[in-house]
Amino acid sequence: MLDLNAELNPRLLGCLCCPVCGAPLGVDGNGRSLVCNGGRSERNPKGKVHLFDGGAGGYVHLAPGHGGGGDAKEAVHARSAFLRSGYYTPAAEAIAALVRELTPKNGLVLDAGCGEGYYSGRIAEEGFPVLGVDLSKFAADTAAKTARRARMNCGQASSTLYAVGSVFELPVADETFDTVTNIFAPCAPAEYARVLKPGGRLIVAGAGERHLFGLKELIYDDPYLNDPRRDLPAEDDGLRLLEVRNVTFTITVHDPDHRAALFSMTPYYWRTSREGHSRLAAADTLTTEVSFDLHIYEKA
Ligand SMILES: C[S@@+](CC[C@H](N)C(=O)[O-])C[C@H]1O[C@@H](n2cnc3c(N)ncnc32)[C@H](O)[C@@H]1O
Ligand SMILES: [Zn+2]
Repeated sequence: MLDLNAELNPRLLGCLCCPVCGAPLGVDGNGRSLVCNGGRSERNPKGKVHLFDGGAGGYVHLAPGHGGGGDAKEAVHARSAFLRSGYYTPAAEAIAALVRELTPKNGLVLDAGCGEGYYSGRIAEEGFPVLGVDLSKFAADTAAKTARRARMNCGQASSTLYAVGSVFELPVADETFDTVTNIFAPCAPAEYARVLKPGGRLIVAGAGERHLFGLKELIYDDPYLNDPRRDLPAEDDGLRLLEVRNVTFTITVHDPDHRAALFSMTPYYWRTSREGHSRLAAADTLTTEVSFDLHIYEKA
């Protein structure tokens, strides 16, 4: 059984708060759970203490009432297999470089909707402690196990912490993070503004116009360009748009399992005709543009 005292980065632990009453969280005496201080407040008039399991998988579960939410096991496995094969490395490098550019030295980063921690892990390599939050326990579990393996290989102290939680109710205290990243996951502008320090930055990554156009050419008779994300922060969210950058590159996917995994990661998967699915399965190879728009905001 893992001991959370040894596993959890203390600076990230200090940012967590109880998803039930909002009080600060600490490690329970048994080293396997997180516990709030049970202070009386409007949200906790009786001063109850709330306990959250954390020992088994190396991630902490801070989403009571959201059991089974987020991506299913199969989706997590497919995406992990695809991402770990390196196809999106240029995107991960661009995001890591952008975080390095925007985040003060020793700053803390929150990756909201982190999936299995592909980008969170790369950002942590830049020297920033990263809290990854995802609603899927399968994603958080995979992320924590991958991080643990990497730590054991290089013998470094933990600089990532993964939590099951919702981006719409982050289990995090106000104004604690320097940078929030939100990569192809639901955007919750009000929450991101709440948890960012004044002057902190938000990076929202979404599909660029020609993202996966080669894939669409294969499955659709009339492929269309992507619209921008619809859930981007608005002017009254307390976040000011500074800039939009784009990173575009081309990938070739020979492995049919990787092609299928990439397809299953897209919103088109469920909207595509049986014929489109068959065309992709029958193709020898797939060459396509990958295009990320990186929307950069500053907390007012
Ligand atoms: C397309 S995946 C992107 C994952 C990761 N950021 C990446 O790019 O590899 C979207 C992720 O959002 C998560 N998600 C969906 N709704 C969520 C919510 N309300 N709060 C937190 N995560 C959520 C899913 O479980 C899934 O892991
Ligand atoms: Zn509590």
